[in-house]
Amino acid sequence: MTKAVLVTGGGKRLGREIVLTAAEAGWTPVVHYNSSSNAAEELAKETGGVAVGIDLSEEGAGEKLIALATEKLGGKLTGLVNSASIFEHDTGQDVTEEALLRNFRIHTVAPAMLAKAFAHQASDGSAIVNILDQKLFNLNADHYSYTISKQALHGATMMMARAYAPSVRAIGVAPGYNLPSPGQDDETFERLAPTVNVLERRLQPRDVAKTVLFALENMAITGQVLIASGGEHLKSAERDVLFKD
Ligand SMILES: NC(=O)c1ccc[n+]([C@@H]2O[C@H](COP(=O)([O-])OP(=O)(O)OC[C@H]3O[C@@H](n4cnc5c(N)ncnc54)[C@H](OP(=O)(O)O)[C@@H]3O)[C@@H](O)[C@H]2O)c1
Repeated sequence: MTKAVLVTGGGKRLGREIVLTAAEAGWTPVVHYNSSSNAAEELAKETGGVAVGIDLSEEGAGEKLIALATEKLGGKLTGLVNSASIFEHDTGQDVTEEALLRNFRIHTVAPAMLAKAFAHQASDGSAIVNILDQKLFNLNADHYSYTISKQALHGATMMMARAYAPSVRAIGVAPGYNLPSPGQDDETFERLAPTVNVLERRLQPRDVAKTVLFALENMAITGQVLIASGGEHLKSAERDVLFKD
């Protein structure tokens, strides 16, 4: 079976690592982007894949993206990685309907509609990997809308595992802190990263990406979450690492 995977938000950061890791393992990547067209096109060229752009907050974007991806690929997808994300801070005190809806569109609605269209064209042995967050297993009240919408994606992962079986598996991968948060400089990140998990070393994006590859390829697993956090989920924190000094 030809292995072809669509990675949303694949042009930069963790998405890019997932694309590179999958390509090294023989997958043809479809690199999805919203604003990072140059980075995505370059990465697609480097990895023998294709790049496709769409704003996932728009109505109908999920189904449109699967159609565009398969058309540009000239074949079917066997893997879908829902990694595109926004990480805006809000709290239980200042949460707005607008923020909740924005987060749900990107973290829940788009992945669910992508999964539906993906499953429709998928053959036996295909897989959906939803990128979650270790936060879900170690809750604090920061990034309120983000976390609520990722909780929904966690639940959706279990639903997808039932809904699209037996041909399609669905797995969650919940990373820990592996790249600087928005507005955080590299020096602060490098200093804090080894302090947030029980292994006391910086979690590497490549190790998270390898967990995603494992989920894509391992035919024994569906309907579960792999936490790739260096044990960050075991360390209780009152607030997000963004507020650590
Ligand atoms: N970074 C971490 O330490 C960490 C920790 C735990 C969990 N995670 C999870 O891991 C995943 C990747 O993390 P990351 O830090 O690499 O993510 P990120 O940099 O915050 O976002 C990844 C990409 O999402 C795309 N995106 C944002 N809004 C979009 C929209 N409206 N339509 C389409 N695409 C959109 C952007 O693509 P363009 O650049 O093309 O606009 C962006 O580059 C996320 O799901 C995140 O929740 C990350």
